Formats: sequence, structure tokens, C-alpha cells
Amino acid sequence: MNKQFLADVAAGLGSSPKFLSSKYFYDKKGDQLFMQIMDLPEYYLTRAEMDIFTSQTGDIVNLLGVQKGVPFDVIELGAGDGSKTKMLLAELLGERFDFDYVPVDISANVLAHLERVLSLELPDLRIKSQNRDYFQTLQYLNKAGKQKIVLYLGSNLGNMPDEAAREFIYALGKNLNEGDKLILGVDLIKPSNVVLPAYSDSQGITSLFNLNLLHRINRELNANFKLDQFSHIAEYDEEIGIAKSYLKSEKDQDVYIGALKKTFIFAKDEKIQTEISRKYDQVIIGNILSGTGFTIKGVLKDKNSYFADYILELH
Ligand code: AVI
Repeated sequence: MNKQFLADVAAGLGSSPKFLSSKYFYDKKGDQLFMQIMDLPEYYLTRAEMDIFTSQTGDIVNLLGVQKGVPFDVIELGAGDGSKTKMLLAELLGERFDFDYVPVDISANVLAHLERVLSLELPDLRIKSQNRDYFQTLQYLNKAGKQKIVLYLGSNLGNMPDEAAREFIYALGKNLNEGDKLILGVDLIKPSNVVLPAYSDSQGITSLFNLNLLHRINRELNANFKLDQFSHIAEYDEEIGIAKSYLKSEKDQDVYIGALKKTFIFAKDEKIQTEISRKYDQVIIGNILSGTGFTIKGVLKDKNSYFADYILELH
């Protein structure tokens, strides 16, 4: 049993208001559902970032300041399906740079899938997958002393509150050296009519993704959540640029979690917050970066200005 999962579920459901951490979405089923989300017509984030990586690949490479004959590592934190990174990797290979691609993910499934796809499409690519913690990987790579280009794409940062995001970026910097780069992909603040459908799609895939968390608690912590008695809710506050996802109890009900030997009471319409998805602007990014040691070398946006990739340098 995952002790941390158990402790986090106990703390979150024992709080008022109740919450659960979105990091637990990503079991095998959750990984699959997230792949489906990335293909949804409403989920503009992936396509927008893909547009940047496809149409501005040369600009990205220039801003990275990498040199031919000087080896470096391209380290991707939370590797996903690699579709965007593939564009950058193909450009670097074509230009004959000397680099290793190091995808890092806690999911061995995701890494295996990625390796299969990339070895077919980019047979010359040197892939050194790391199935471990981001910081462990960076510490280990730092010993080799090569220049590092770290990719943290897909607005994954947005699933953390701003203070946690700042601490995360600071901790990344502590495991890198002066001159190393970070490509940070962030979703930008925009109107509700664009953002909200991305988190409450018409096919109900996001709902399945959210409810899968209860399924995981049932399976791994021996609980008896009735999935048809909870529904997915997405909200977006356009002023501050934060989308939130919840699971709402459809009636007064009790849920027993066997691994905790404890019953939790849910009132009708009570919500469990399961995720925040922060959207950014220049001021918010500036605040998050302050004191982290990173400065902005360049900002690339997609054609609709929905999404931005910040090229950051550690000083
Ligand atoms: C992984 N992360 C950036 C996604 C997001 O947009 O916040 C997760 C997600 N949640 C619902 N749909 C997608």
C-alpha cells in the first residue's frame, strides 16, 4: 500500500472543505485518460504548445544558446507522449548537436510508450529514460557536469499553487548550474468561454479522469465510493486566472475507507476540490521567478496567444 497516498487522502477528506491532490490522477487508467484529454477538441493547451514547437523550433534552439561540439542533456520532466518535444529533438538532430534526451517520469508505462514511439520516428536519438523522481535525476545528472536544458511543458506548473510553483522552480535551480536553461510551458489567462470547455468537455472524458481518482481510492485503499453518486464540476475565475475541478456529492452519503477504518460523511452538493489549473500572465510569472535565480531569455507564444513557452536561464 502507498502510505503517502493513504495519509494524503486521510488529510484531504478530513479537512473542511475537502480536497484531494491531483497528483493521484495518474495511475495507468489516469495516464490513458489524460492522453485522450490532450486530443480533445476543447483542450487547446496541447495544440497551442505544439504550434510553438512546430512553427518556432529554430527560435527555441537559438534562445537555448547551445553550441555544436559541446555535449548537453535535454531533460524532460513529466515526459508525456513527447509529441511537442519531438519537434525540438528532430531539429537538434538535424543540426547535428551532440546531446542525450533524458525523459523523466514516475510512470514506467509512459516512458516505455515514449521510447517505442521515438525509436521509430527518430532512430538516431540517444534516449536515457529515468523512471524516478525529478530531483533525484537532476542531482545524478549534475555529477556529469554537462550543460542541461530542462523542459517542463504542458502547463504542469499550473497544477501547483503559486508559492509551491516558486519553491519548485527554486529547487530546480538548486540542482542546475549557471547557464543551464529551463523551457517552461504555461497556459495564459484568457476568457472563460475558451478555458472552461477545456475542463468540462462535451464527451465527458475530463469527468471520467476526475472520477477515476475515486476509483483509485476504492481499489488501492479499499473504499466504497459509489462513482455514480459523484459528479465532475469545473469552475474558472477569469479575474485571477484559476480553473478548479471538483467532485460533487449528489446526495447525503457515507463513504467507508477500509485502509483507514474510517467513515467520511458527505452532504448533498458538498464538493471535494481535486485540482487547480493556474493560468498565467507576465506579472504572475515574474513573481514566481523572483528569487529563484532564473531570468527570462525569451517568450514564445502560439498564433492565438493562448499559451507561452518561457526560455529561462539560471544565473
Ligand atoms: C497536467 N495538467 C497541466 C492538466 C491541466 O490542464 O491542468 C491536467 C488536466 N486536468 C483536467 N484536464 C487536464
